[in-house]
Parts: sequence; structure tokens; C-alpha cells
Amino acid sequence: MGMCYFFRVLFLVTIVFGGGCASWNPLGRDTQGPMPRPPRPMPVSSAPFAWGISTSSYQYENPDVLPQESHYFTTDWDAFVKGGRAPAKGKALYSWTEFDKDLAALKKIGVSHYRFSLSWARIEPQPGKFNEEAIEGYVAMARKLKEAGIEPVVCLWHFTFPGWLYDPKKPKQSNWLHPEVRRRWLAYLEKVLPRLAPYTNYFAPQNEPNGQITTAYLAGQWPPAMLLAFGTYRKAIDASAGMFRDAALLIKKVKPTAKVLSVEALPCWERSPLDPGGLFYNTMTHGNIDHLDRIWDVCDIVGINYYYSQKASPISFLAERYRRGSNYSMMGWRINPEGLYKEIRRVGDRYGKPMMITENGIATDDDPKRELYMQNHIAAVGRAIQAGYDVRGYFSWSLADNYEWHYGYNAFFGLSHMDPATHSRILKPSALSFRKIIRSIKTVGMVPKLPVETGFIGTQTNKTP
Ligand code: BGC
Repeated sequence: MGMCYFFRVLFLVTIVFGGGCASWNPLGRDTQGPMPRPPRPMPVSSAPFAWGISTSSYQYENPDVLPQESHYFTTDWDAFVKGGRAPAKGKALYSWTEFDKDLAALKKIGVSHYRFSLSWARIEPQPGKFNEEAIEGYVAMARKLKEAGIEPVVCLWHFTFPGWLYDPKKPKQSNWLHPEVRRRWLAYLEKVLPRLAPYTNYFAPQNEPNGQITTAYLAGQWPPAMLLAFGTYRKAIDASAGMFRDAALLIKKVKPTAKVLSVEALPCWERSPLDPGGLFYNTMTHGNIDHLDRIWDVCDIVGINYYYSQKASPISFLAERYRRGSNYSMMGWRINPEGLYKEIRRVGDRYGKPMMITENGIATDDDPKRELYMQNHIAAVGRAIQAGYDVRGYFSWSLADNYEWHYGYNAFFGLSHMDPATHSRILKPSALSFRKIIRSIKTVGMVPKLPVETGFIGTQTNKTP
């Protein structure tokens, strides 16, 4: 998810508060504060390396269910779209009714893992009324993946809430802060976890709660669209962390051997002379770890969603939308594999947990650029492993070009695209190149051996900091 709106807002904050407070950030606690650091696990060379792809229900499933259809459901994002705040989902990818098309593509690529998310709104279209067919649909996905030798990674929340938790007129009582949300979340988990458990060894309770909460409560760009609501932001972080912990507990109760994964947005923020007081830098780096600091101890694996690095300054964020060229994605995100290396080190040092790259990818209509992006980021993972960081997997975002929130269908993240007539996924050369990587690299210890023989795109920095 892009943070450009957040930057715009921070620009205002900088103007209002000035840039003179070197250690202050408007989000609260100091990012450099003390953390209990368990000894960092060392990578085990012979352990299998997980190669995966990540997707989400809202971005992949069918066009919206209409009110006259049975099992009608709606989400907070649909309300947002209706209000003209985001592009319509329109055609969609039909992964709900035609999951086999996804499965066929996954088999061709040869991934060992696949992360998909459940739509809470589809499963619980009215508070307390569960759609058994919907639950069965997701169970079937997990089962089919398992039968195909692909390990499902089930994400229990990926950005959208059931519409009944959202009231645009009551932003402080919507979504994470709805008075009933925690009770309903538990009921939802109690319904789905036992059903999925027989086929699922990895559960991710939430996708990027840190990014979503920032964009929703500070940047005003996601429901409930509050601007610079720092107090509400903190409450939402607390609420989501509490719900994450509930989920972790329940997952272990239902299946003690299952692994709990956190999935957070971790762009690499860099200091800038245009942010002399460090306000931007402090705020953004704080946003990276704010949620994670509250839940890392209940995780078996810390997931890193990494796409880009960015100078933390007002000018840099204003420039984002105009950036184009070989070092940028079509969304103006700066390509920097070194940033991934740095984030792995930061997370490894701070939390001392095994890690996985749970999302990495690029929006581009230039597929060779995607191949290079992928190769260079995988090479950065390899370098981190070589430096003693326990990274156990890499998931590409994403399987097919899909609905990219505020960008609609205008940001091409897919290793494939959908044939509009047959709905099959047509693999791009980058998917075949991913397949080659997957076939040749089986274990953690082999990752560093990946040759990066192709030309470099992105910010060239091969030195170890
Ligand atoms: C999210 C996806 C999104 C992707 C690209 C991640 O933040 O999990 O939903 O499509 O980044 O922006």
C-alpha cells in the first residue's frame, strides 16, 4: 500500500510543528526504546526454503454480490467505493468461484506455499449469522492446495471489514474501534479456525495492520478516513494488537503445531537533510514497528512486506507521484533491494525471531523489469541469510494483475494476467523465471548462491552497512 497520502499529511504536521524536535514523533513512544531481545536464531542451511505467492480475498474474488442475491455481503471498502473515495472493483478475478484457475497457475509456477485471505464479510454477512458455504469454500481452497502439495498460509484479515462494523458517520466507533469488534472477531475465529486447521499449518491473523491503520486514521485515505487523528490511531493500534493476540492464542489452542505469522508493512525509511528535526523519519520508522512491538512475542515467524525505500522528507513524498524511470515502479516507488536487506537486519536484531518475506513485488508493465526486481530482492535475502539472519521464505506479490485499492486495475503486480474470456491465468515470463528460481533453490543455504548476472535496476548499493 502506498504511503504517499500519509506523507502529504506529515508535510502539514511538519509545517505546524516545525522540524526542530530531533527525537519527537507524533505517534508516541520512542522507536529506539528498550526491547527485550531474545538471541537471534541462526539460519539452518539444510532447512527447506518456502517459495510462495500472496493474494487477498478482496483483490481477487468475484465482482460484488448484489443485494438481491443470496449471501449478499458488503465491506467497509465497498462503502468507500460507493462514496466515490476509491475506484470500483468491477470485473475482479473470479478467485471465489474459479479458484481452480489460480491453483493451475500455482502448480505451473511450482510454489511450495500460497497465502490467501478469508473475507470476514463473506463469512459473517450479518453479525452472528454465518455463511456455512463460504466457510466451506475457503476450507476447500486449503484442502485443494494441500492435495496439490502446496502449503496454505491463511490470512484471517486483509484490510476489509464487514460492512456492519463500519459507519462513516461514526468513525471512532467503526472497524477496529467498533464496540462489538473484539467479541465478533473471536466468534468469527472460533468458527473458522477449527474448520481450516486440518489443512493449515500457517495462520496470519492480520495483513499489514500498521499500514492500514496509518492510512485510515492519519492520512484519511482508508475507511474510516480520519485525518491526523493521533489519539484514535493509538487506540486502533492497541485494539488491533489485542485482536492479534486473541487470534494467536486461539490458533495455538485449536492447533498447537500451527505457526503464527505477523505480516507488517516495512518500507525502508531513510533520513533526509530536508527533514532536519527527524520528524518524518521518526514518525515513519515508528509506524513500521508500532504494531509489531505489541505482538512479536506471540509470533513464530515475523513476516516482512517490503516493496521500496523512501527518503523520509516532505519533498520526497510530494515527488513520489512524478517519479518514473528504471529506478521506480509505475506507482513511483523507489526500487532498492538493499532496503530489504536492511529491514531484514533491523527486524532480526529487534525481535530475534525467524522471518519470512511475506510480500515483495513491483507494479510495472515492463515484465523484464519485474524479473530483475525479483532476482535482486531474492539476492538481498540471500545476502541477509549469509550474514546470519534466519529468513525462511519469500512470497511474491502477486499471482495475477489485480485490484490495487486506490489505483484500481492500473498497477500491474501480477506474475500473470487473467484471460478475460476464459478467466485462466496467463503466465508472464517473470512467472517462468520465478519457477526457475524455485526449481534450483530448495534450501535456506542455497539462497545466497543465486546468481545476479542480469543488469541491475534499482539503487545500486552492494555494500554491507
Ligand atoms: C498489500 C496488498 C497491496 C500490495 C501492493 C500490500 O501492502 O498487502 O494488498 O496490493 O501491498 O500495494
